[in-house]
Amino acid sequence: MAISFSVNGSPASLDLPPDTPLLWALRDGLNLTGTKFGCGVAACGACTVHVDGVAVRSCQTALGDVAGAEVTTIEGLGAPAALHAVQAAWVDHQVAQCGYCQSGQIMQAAALLAENPAPSLAQIDEAMSGNLCRCGTYPRIRAAVQDAARRLREV
Ligand code: FES
Ligand code: FES
Repeated sequence: MAISFSVNGSPASLDLPPDTPLLWALRDGLNLTGTKFGCGVAACGACTVHVDGVAVRSCQTALGDVAGAEVTTIEGLGAPAALHAVQAAWVDHQVAQCGYCQSGQIMQAAALLAENPAPSLAQIDEAMSGNLCRCGTYPRIRAAVQDAARRLREV
């Protein structure tokens, strides 16, 4: 039986086994390839998406568990003409190097700021600590999250 949920504000329905990882449902079932596979064991954060506003590791989230939920991926966080504040800060700080981890980093940061609009540096570091970057962009990530928080508070 098809599993129905919402992705980036649009209805989606996939006839896949309920234990299919959400990551593969998004990438292979819906062609939303901005969400990346890194480790497959919830240890790197590359696959981070939002489920009902909460950051989750889609490699370890079963499709059946998001039935009826609102899933947001990097493709739906903002739009090219209306970037989310985190995306805009990422551009201004030129955070990305190879870019592979960055959609997960951005989704994690956006979830943090939705929950805590004025995080301390320690809170930023704690919230982002599960998102690994082999290129070592951590200082720029930290600066961009602080900048995005300022932008969101000024809206
Ligand atoms: S691929 Fe999901 S946490 Fe690494
Ligand atoms: S930018 Fe290359 S892994 Fe993070």
